[in-house]
Amino acid sequence: MSTRIGVVGSNMVDLVTYIDRMPEAGETLAAPAFSMGHGGKGANQATAAARLGGDVMLVSRVGDDMFGEGTIRNLARSGIDVTHVRAVPGAQSGVAPIFVEASGENRILIVKGANDRLLPEDVDAAAPELSRCGVILLQLEVPLETVYHTIAWAARQGIEVLLNPAPAVSGLDVERIVDATFLMPNQTELAILTGLPTGSRSEAEVAARSLVARGVRNVVVTLGAAGALLVGREEAVHVPAVPVKPVDTSGAGDAFIGAFAQHYVVSRDVPAAMGWGARYAADSITRPGTQKAFADEAGFRTFLAGLPATL
Ligand code: RIB
Ligand code: NA
Repeated sequence: MSTRIGVVGSNMVDLVTYIDRMPEAGETLAAPAFSMGHGGKGANQATAAARLGGDVMLVSRVGDDMFGEGTIRNLARSGIDVTHVRAVPGAQSGVAPIFVEASGENRILIVKGANDRLLPEDVDAAAPELSRCGVILLQLEVPLETVYHTIAWAARQGIEVLLNPAPAVSGLDVERIVDATFLMPNQTELAILTGLPTGSRSEAEVAARSLVARGVRNVVVTLGAAGALLVGREEAVHVPAVPVKPVDTSGAGDAFIGAFAQHYVVSRDVPAAMGWGARYAADSITRPGTQKAFADEAGFRTFLAGLPATL
C-alpha cells in the first residue's frame, strides 16, 4: 500500500484577531493583536502531514489575487506537491476571519472564494497522480459534489479515504460517504451529523455508533482536551489528549488529522496514529496561528521528549 497522501480540499488566508471579548452589535472595540497566516482545512492537513515527513499532494484552487501566488509558494515551501493547486481566473482566494479569545477558544468565519470552484472534473484531471496515493483526505470547504465524486472514484480505485466533515453541514448525505474508511468529526460536527447529543464521551460514542449502524466504517471523534475516540464495528478505543496550556486552538483538528494520516499510511495502526495526532495537535495549540503553529519533525521530537514518561 502506497504511503503517499492526497488531499483534495481548501486553502484560505487566515486573518486572526486576538480579542478580549467579541464586540456587541454596533460596538467598536480595540483588540490586542492581529496576525495573518496560511490556513484552510485542506491546506492545513496537507501541511501537518508534509512537515512530519509525509509525501503529500494537494488538489486545490486559489484566486487570481494577491493571496493566490503566496499560498502556492507557501505550500511548496512546506514540501507539498502543488502540481494541482491552480488559480481560478476572476475568483478571490478563500479567507477566514478568525477571532481568538485569551482562553485560546476560537470563532471562525470562512469566505470560500476559489475553493467553491474546485469541481469534480478537477479531481478527474488529477486522477493519474491521485491514483498513486494510499489515502485521500477530504473536508467540507469545497463543493459537496466534489467530495462525493472523490469518495466514489477512490472506492473504485481501492484507495482509502479519510473524510473530515468540517465545517459542519446539515445536508451531508451519509449514503454517499459510507465508502470512506474514516469519518473524523469533532463533537459539534458529530452532533449536527446525527442530531444526537455529543457533549460527553459516552454521548459521543452513542452518536458515532448511530453512524456505524448506517454503514460508516470507522468514526474517529476528536474530543479536544478529552482526546479522541475510535468507534467502528468493534469495541470503542479511547486515546487521551496530552495536557498543555492552550494559546490558540485554531487548526488543532487539522494538526490531528494531518499527523494521523502521516502515521497511518506507514503504520496502518489506527490507535497509534490517533495518539500521534493527539500529541501533534497538543503541541500546535501552544503557539498562535494555524499552519504557523505546526511543528516540523525536529520541533515535534523536541516536544515529545519534554512529555512526562507516563504519557
Ligand atoms: O480548521 C481551521 C481552519 O478553518 C482555519 O485555518 C481556517 O482557514 C478555516 O478553514
Ligand atoms: Na495554534
